[in-house]
Amino acid sequence: MMKRDPNQILIFDTTLRDGEQSPGASMTIDEKVKMAHQLNRLGVNIIEAGFPVISQGDFDAVSRIAEAVKGPTICALARCVEKDIMAAVEALKSAENKRIHVFIATSPIHMKHKLRMEPQDVIERAVESIKLAKKYFDDIEFSAEDATRSESDFLVKIFSAVIEAGATTINVPDTVGYTMPDEYARLIDKLNREVKGIDDVVISVHCHNDLGVATANSLAAIQKGARQVECTINGIGERSGNAALEEVVMSLRTRKDLYDQFTTIETTQLLNSSKMVAEITGINVQYNKAIVGKNAFAHEAGIHQHGVIAHRETYEIMRPEDIGFTGNDMVIGKHSGRHAIKQWLDNNKINLTEEQISDLSSQVKAFSDTRKHISDADIFKILEQTNMHY
Ligand code: KIV
Ligand code: ZN
Repeated sequence: MMKRDPNQILIFDTTLRDGEQSPGASMTIDEKVKMAHQLNRLGVNIIEAGFPVISQGDFDAVSRIAEAVKGPTICALARCVEKDIMAAVEALKSAENKRIHVFIATSPIHMKHKLRMEPQDVIERAVESIKLAKKYFDDIEFSAEDATRSESDFLVKIFSAVIEAGATTINVPDTVGYTMPDEYARLIDKLNREVKGIDDVVISVHCHNDLGVATANSLAAIQKGARQVECTINGIGERSGNAALEEVVMSLRTRKDLYDQFTTIETTQLLNSSKMVAEITGINVQYNKAIVGKNAFAHEAGIHQHGVIAHRETYEIMRPEDIGFTGNDMVIGKHSGRHAIKQWLDNNKINLTEEQISDLSSQVKAFSDTRKHISDADIFKILEQTNMHY
C-alpha cells in the first residue's frame, strides 16, 4: 500500500451509496456519473459508488463510474456474502484504483434479530469474506455495522481477525447515530490500543446524525487516531443523514489550532457540490445549514453588519470565497442598520447625503416590518416614492 502522511484525513464520500439511501434521493445512472466527476473535482479520496448486488442500476452505476472517473479510489459495498463480493469484483473491473467495502453487523441486537447468528459465526463469516475478497483486491475495508452498540471487546476480536485475514481499513460505524463524542472517542482509543495489527491499517469512522452529532463524533474520533472519515455532501443519508463532508472538512481547516490534520479537498468546490446534490436529489439545503446554507454568510442584524463591514472576522470565522460563495450577503431587513444601506447604495453606485441615508434607512425599516424579505426592487421603489434624487 502507498505510504500516506499520518496527518492526512482521507475523505471517503458515500453520497452515492449511503446518501442515496435517503428517502427520495434516488439518482439515475447518468446523475451518479455526473456527481462522481464533481466529487473528483472536489478532491475526495474514495468514492463509494454503490452496492452492486442490490440492483442492476446500482451495478451499472458502479461500472460506469469505475470506467469514467480516474484518480480517486472507487469503492463498492458488499455484505459478507459471496454473491455480493463477486458482484463488486465484476462492477469494479475497469477501475484504476479500487476498493471493496465488506460489512457485517456486530451488535447483540443485530446478530440476534437480523442475522440470527452466534457471535463466533459472525467472526468466521467476516474472516472468510475478507479472504475471498483478498483474491481480487489489495484495498479492503471492513465495517462492523452498529459498532457503537456492539460490545467493545467483541469489536477488538473481530477487527483483529479481519486484519489478519487481509483487511486494510477498519470502519467503526455509528449506524443508528446513537453514540456521543466522548464515548465514541473512548471506543476509537480502545480499538487503537487493543486491536492486533492496527498500526498497519487505517481506522475509519462513519457517523449517522440521528442525535445531531455526526460531525462532532467524527472529529472526536480523529483526535483518537481515526484517519478516514465517511461522509456525504449536505449530510444526506438514511434517516437524519450522515456526517456532512463540508462540515468535517471546514472544521479541520478552520480549527487548525486544534487539529493537526489536513484533507485534499478543494474547498472552493464545496458550494458547487452542495448545489449539484440538491439539484439532482431534489432535497433542498436548509437556509441555516452550516457551511453551504444560503444564510451561512448572511448578516441581517445591524450590529453584525457594522462589524463585518469594518472587519470581516468580527462575525465570520471562514471566508465565504473559500467555500465557493462570491462573498457574504448583507441582508436588508428590519434588523439592518444604515451601514448595510450605505453598502447597498455603494454597490449600486448611488450617492446620497448622510441625511438621505438615515431617512432611507428608517423607511426601509418601516417597510420591512410588513414583510419577510426586501428585494432590490423594493428599495428602488422606496427611493422613487420618497423622491430621493441620486
Ligand atoms: O451505517 C452503516 O453501518 C453503514 C455500513 C454499511 C457501513 O452504512
Ligand atoms: Zn451508514
